Amino acid sequence: MKIVIVKNYNELSAAAALMIADVLRCVNNPVLSLATGSTPIGAYAELVNAYRDNKISFKNVLTFNLDEYVGLPATDGNSYRAYMNKHLFDNVDIDKDNTNLPDGTADDLEQECKRYSALLEKHPRHLQLLGLGRNGHIGFNEPGTRFDSVTHVVELTPDTIKANSRLFADGAVPRRAVTMGIKDIMAAKRIVLLASGENKARAVYNTVKGRVSDSCPASVLQTHPDATLIADMEAAHEIV
Ligand code: GLP
Repeated sequence: MKIVIVKNYNELSAAAALMIADVLRCVNNPVLSLATGSTPIGAYAELVNAYRDNKISFKNVLTFNLDEYVGLPATDGNSYRAYMNKHLFDNVDIDKDNTNLPDGTADDLEQECKRYSALLEKHPRHLQLLGLGRNGHIGFNEPGTRFDSVTHVVELTPDTIKANSRLFADGAVPRRAVTMGIKDIMAAKRIVLLASGENKARAVYNTVKGRVSDSCPASVLQTHPDATLIADMEAAHEIV
């Protein structure tokens, strides 16, 4: 895994945006897989700025998001669809029909997972953006998830529910989500993992220096041919 350590969150955001912008410039019909959470917000803001400065366009871009909460419709401000619209899609020239997230409101979630998996099979990703859970999860693939998993429904761990409850005004975080599997994530040509802040330091250590094991799902990235970790000093302090 390549490791890029930057001073702070602003530098992390700029570095991540540069890597994504590179793909948009070099590939005719780029396919991106995108992440949510607080970490990539700065990178999305940088991309919006680059778009406004006419440096990049999202016209031919196809996107797939990693995950979505079960039960939250697009109109719910806490849904990952709402997040993506707010931080990226509404602010650039992307065709919304080319933006995909699992549908957490589907009546038949098993069927929805199959539909999403089939789409992923059809559209290999040029770049996969990832945040890092405090327990080393990627997407919503919690510790113990098989490395050969594809899109599936997950029960979130108490730690993840607690970490994400800060974003829900009433603290009512959904208990389940639909997530791409680890096999789907690993299928991307290039992977960019972002980690910011002291509370990610242990997970960063386990990801980079730990044994490749499902107890830290992100450790699987050690086996990917083109994975880059961009971490700020606080998140990286246990690996330097
Ligand atoms: C959620 C998301 C992950 C994200 C993680 C870390 O659980 N499903 O994709 O990486 O949170 O979030 P944050 O960046 O807010 O720390």
